[in-house]
Amino acid sequence: MAGADDTGSKQRLELSRRRAMFRRGVRYVDLDQLQARVFLTTFRVHLRVVSMRAVRVAIVDPYEEALNRFEQLIQTAKKTEVRAPLTMTLATADHRCRPSVRTVVVKHFDRRGFVFLTHCGSRKGVQLAENPFAALCFYFQPLLEQVTIEGPVGVVESEETDGYWAGRARDAQFAAWASRQSEPLDHRTTLTKRLSEFQKQFADQRVPRPSEWIGYRIVPERIEFWRAGWRHLHERVCYTKTPAGWRVELLCP
Ligand SMILES: Cc1cc2nc3c(=O)[nH]c(=O)nc-3n(C[C@H](O)[C@H](O)[C@H](O)COP(=O)(O)O)c2cc1C
Repeated sequence: MAGADDTGSKQRLELSRRRAMFRRGVRYVDLDQLQARVFLTTFRVHLRVVSMRAVRVAIVDPYEEALNRFEQLIQTAKKTEVRAPLTMTLATADHRCRPSVRTVVVKHFDRRGFVFLTHCGSRKGVQLAENPFAALCFYFQPLLEQVTIEGPVGVVESEETDGYWAGRARDAQFAAWASRQSEPLDHRTTLTKRLSEFQKQFADQRVPRPSEWIGYRIVPERIEFWRAGWRHLHERVCYTKTPAGWRVELLCP
């Protein structure tokens, strides 16, 4: 009981000390309470930051961000002397992993991927059948910007491909009929003869899509933006698809 008395008298002493200080205008600061308040405030701020980050991750999907960035770049490039910004270098590789490149035009791109049209019996068509992966490269010279995209390749559904085919110039449609793309050609006249045959065959009517001309879609798994930087400290931002979702990181130039 002596201990309880001691505690009681200590508390009374402390109380009268605080009252005396209060009368003298000294506002008593309880350090424990202050510490608890600081902790709570910090914790609340921390929670707010964490939840804002979660919201940002939920709202700003990195893949969407990459596609928007690409779209903006295309719009900017259109304002420069670049004539066809959706022209890209397409790399494929054969079954022995030997690479080859050529230029093709992107007909459409969205979340599903980047579509181009070609002859399935062409060199690239054969390679894509053997090894359905590709890499793309866009270079916007006036902007000193480059975009590279890599991923697996699939064949686009015929109805959708028909839509892109319909958007081709009539001359380009006839040329596609006339050309057995990538096959050896004995003479130019063989090609021009074939062209006039098809021009006759489809005169005054819509040119149908040859069954060999198909759409391929590259489904991005990696998208990298490169921008020329001051003193060669170029900027590289890489979006990569991972099992946990899309990851964004800077890369050394
Ligand atoms: C500006 C430009 C755009 C081209 N666009 C296409 C295209 O969209 N599709 C296509 O099959 N070939 C296109 N070509 C031709 C290809 O570069 C290539 O010569 C052809 O497809 C045969 O390639 P391969 O033998 O590697 O299959 C284009 C060429 C240039 C220079």
